[in-house]
Amino acid sequence: MKKNNHLPNTFPEKGNKAAKVYNKICLELAMDGNVHLDLGSFSTTIMNSYADKLIIEQLGKNFIDYGEYGQTKKIHDRIIAILSGLLNAPNSKSINGTATLGSSEAIHLALLSHKWNWKKRQQSLNLNTTKPNIVYTSNAHVCWDKFALYFDVEPRKIAISSLHAYPMDEILKNIDENTICVGAIAGNTYTGSIDPIEELNTKILEINSQNNWDVGIHVDAAISGFVLPFLKSQEMQWDFRLSLVRSINLSGHKFGLVYPGIGWLIFRDAFFLPKDLIFSSHYLGKQIETYTLNYSKGASMILAQYFSIHQHGTFGYKKIIRSCCNTAEIIRERLRQSNYFEIVDEGILPVVVFKLKTTGSVDLYKFQLHLKAKNWMLPLYAIPGNFEPNKLMRIVVKGNFNPAMATQLCDDLISVFQKLNNYRL
Ligand SMILES: Cc1ncc(COP(=O)(O)O)c(C=O)c1O
Repeated sequence: MKKNNHLPNTFPEKGNKAAKVYNKICLELAMDGNVHLDLGSFSTTIMNSYADKLIIEQLGKNFIDYGEYGQTKKIHDRIIAILSGLLNAPNSKSINGTATLGSSEAIHLALLSHKWNWKKRQQSLNLNTTKPNIVYTSNAHVCWDKFALYFDVEPRKIAISSLHAYPMDEILKNIDENTICVGAIAGNTYTGSIDPIEELNTKILEINSQNNWDVGIHVDAAISGFVLPFLKSQEMQWDFRLSLVRSINLSGHKFGLVYPGIGWLIFRDAFFLPKDLIFSSHYLGKQIETYTLNYSKGASMILAQYFSIHQHGTFGYKKIIRSCCNTAEIIRERLRQSNYFEIVDEGILPVVVFKLKTTGSVDLYKFQLHLKAKNWMLPLYAIPGNFEPNKLMRIVVKGNFNPAMATQLCDDLISVFQKLNNYRL
């Protein structure tokens, strides 16, 4: 190992002392951004010392070894039952779901099961099974496109034409007998907006009954799955209370308050997870049944989810989510008052999305760089769709981002804007 250099890029001939390797890696990682100031990411950056202790103690467990780690599997199943209840699954005796590495894997598995169910129904009616399609909006996360590509399903991706208008008519027009399901988003990645899922449910019910189809809905609740159930305004229907919602994904590592590496897929009823897709194998003399893309995975984040649920309970989640929403509101208010920024999110989730009020007044890339110089990491992005060029910035308010930090951030946003605007004039 050369002095003051990073570790070599080739597999080393000889090893080194653990402390030395550790220090070298830490030195290199010190050049990464500060996770606590990463305002764009939805994922949890901090838990607490008991959670950390539990995670470290359980790090060596491979979740797939059910025989050896039977209690861990039981805890996993309890979490599925808890989340099914949270999402108002109608039949507590017929629950099914799985932990995944994140919402992408959960979405792929959910959509695969919709494809399978569609195919079985088509076969039973002697209909064509070669041209499945899936209908969703252009502001869906890229993992929806990835599913269509990997699992050979035609993506009917409906362009959104304004920030908040949901293209209901176009969505409905694109459904046909080959539609495996419609994708709805409860909190999209770009603006945090929640699709009108209740209305979608009603309209698809009508279409199904007129045509003798059986098109269901998958709800992508990666962002809001651990938020909406804890908000006061529960009148919005988006989960299994709606009869066509057959599967929901949620990210444990977002507002589920667990570090990255955990997502959840919950089915309305065990009926919607085709038996053919449950993979049965014998491993180390034990029968293992799985519905995942990966085989081995760490058990720690599943256990961390169990910890978070029981540490906070409904009361704790409500308190944390409410406090994040309050801090988000402080930011919105301050940015609005400044008159430089326009808030474009719906104000429901603890996610503030904004753009400059006057386009072209300040170069947004410079704006972002100046903020980075103050250690704030804010993403700058455009929403895919039929738009005038639009550039948005996002602040995800997590539990560790308190009102004092929010005030400092707003001061910096305003002063950087003023500085760049003055240069320009
Ligand atoms: C709405 C939405 N769906 C799916 C995903 C993918 O989630 P994951 O990163 O957990 O795979 C994201 C990620 O941010 C998302 O915002």
